[in-house]
Amino acid sequence: MNALMNDIEVIKTKHSKINEVDFDHLSFGKTFSDHMLECDYKDGKWQAPKVVPYAPITLDPSAKIFHYGQSIFEGMKAYKDGDNNILLFRPLDNFKRLNISAKRLAIPELPEAYFMEGLKALLKVDSDWIPKNEGSSLYIRPFIFATGKGFHASPADEYKFVIATAPSGSYFAGELKVLIEEKYSRSANGGVGFAKAGGNYAGQFYPTQLAIEKGYQQVIWTDDNTHEYIEEAGAMNIFIRINDTLITGPTSDRILDGITRKSIIELTEKEGIPVEVRKITVSEVVEAAKNGSLKEMFGAGTAAVISPISGFGYKNEDFDLPKLENTYADALKKRITDIQTNKVEDPFGWRYKV
Ligand code: COI
Repeated sequence: MNALMNDIEVIKTKHSKINEVDFDHLSFGKTFSDHMLECDYKDGKWQAPKVVPYAPITLDPSAKIFHYGQSIFEGMKAYKDGDNNILLFRPLDNFKRLNISAKRLAIPELPEAYFMEGLKALLKVDSDWIPKNEGSSLYIRPFIFATGKGFHASPADEYKFVIATAPSGSYFAGELKVLIEEKYSRSANGGVGFAKAGGNYAGQFYPTQLAIEKGYQQVIWTDDNTHEYIEEAGAMNIFIRINDTLITGPTSDRILDGITRKSIIELTEKEGIPVEVRKITVSEVVEAAKNGSLKEMFGAGTAAVISPISGFGYKNEDFDLPKLENTYADALKKRITDIQTNKVEDPFGWRYKV
């Protein structure tokens, strides 16, 4: 056992809420488990993490998170297999990305053991909160935000790292019709699009509301300069299938290095499905929709896993995707969730037993 693991203090709740939860009808991210991990940065270093009862956090009104948005997060999931093992999926990739985001937002980087051992300690305490039903999981939200005080627009001197968890079902209910964005952008070169910064998501809400008013559920983000290149789908990466080839844009300053995205690329490469990581234009997709070679579009992310897109709107025209019997989206989703939940071999070494 890691030395730090012995040091993680666990303060258990006296009032578990687990009996109030209907594990057969879980929505996404609305019910929170009994405990959370908490770890403060002060006096120039990260202090020992603690598992504590899930509870509100009190902050000074001048805390920099409120004014300057210094906040980053990750999305992960825990599963249980038939033998009650607690399983994670590529957790070190989330840890590394959290520190990539931290660096860009001038937040002090977190030591790996605090993240990994803290997460494991939390999952062990709240192990009964990990759903076993097909399609459900314990959604894990690690996040760091600036607690340091002051109105000066400069990085805070104090931060809090928290991991909160929520037993969850599907992220989306129903079909996903998307609007290709012609005006707004989620990111720019030199910006923070590649980081999981809270503000990246806040900036999406208004354009997404406008799309919802027009009858769509999500926005397809295009590049900020020309709005001609397809970049992401809502809060997910995007894949487009033209004939038999799956295409997704390359990661950049503007595109998040999604863990589901890169797993799909590695899986398809291994299984001989043609996959291209290259820029793809709106014109190419519209042309493919018109000539029948556009077969599928889907979003990919931890929360939403793989979410098929049923149609898209562009310049006041709507295009429907064909309703295929055997889709890459269904096959890839099954393959990935089977690996995550230990139903099949994991030739990639992605599964991580806690
Ligand atoms: C995830 O897919 O886990 C994310 O972090 C996206 C979030 C907006 C739900």
